[in-house]
Amino acid sequence: MVRDFHHFKGNELTRSEQIQRAVVELLLNTNSITWELKHSSGCCQIGRILAQKRKLDVEIAEIACILHDICVIVEGKYEEHARRGAETAKRMLEESGDFNGDEIQLITEAIAHHSEKQIRTGKPYIELVKDADVFDCSLYENAQGFYVLHKPKDVYDEYVKRIKIVRKELGLGQNEVFREGK
Ligand SMILES: [Fe+2]
Ligand SMILES: [Fe+2]
Repeated sequence: MVRDFHHFKGNELTRSEQIQRAVVELLLNTNSITWELKHSSGCCQIGRILAQKRKLDVEIAEIACILHDICVIVEGKYEEHARRGAETAKRMLEESGDFNGDEIQLITEAIAHHSEKQIRTGKPYIELVKDADVFDCSLYENAQGFYVLHKPKDVYDEYVKRIKIVRKELGLGQNEVFREGK
């Protein structure tokens, strides 16, 4: 059966769509609306693509990705935002009443550890969120400067390594890492 698409209006949203809409509504109150909207949406889409590639659950992946910087969206700061964001996400998911304990665990541990790009955990959703995060950032014009200027060299190198692996996985050229601007 062909169903019409709601375009995120009305009350017919799935549990994942309700979380996605809640994130958009929260980020409209930040002083960084454009970035938070673009980055959360970008990560969400990349998470869906990587989940399909890796034969993971697309819904868990998209929710973990859309929520990964929820602490920044709610509080406007980056200090310990991964660990603290996981707590915020846990509350949101529990309050929705739509997710079981295992699902909440998968999503929140991916959020809690997403900043540890230099660590490879072997846990698929944690690595997926890290990869979606760095790959999304690599696609903006001239984003490289931020990482060169604000991250320690070893962390920057890990970002580059991860971006290259994702680019290979997606069949993209290996000569480019961060997109250059015009
Ligand atoms: Fe983050
Ligand atoms: Fe992020």
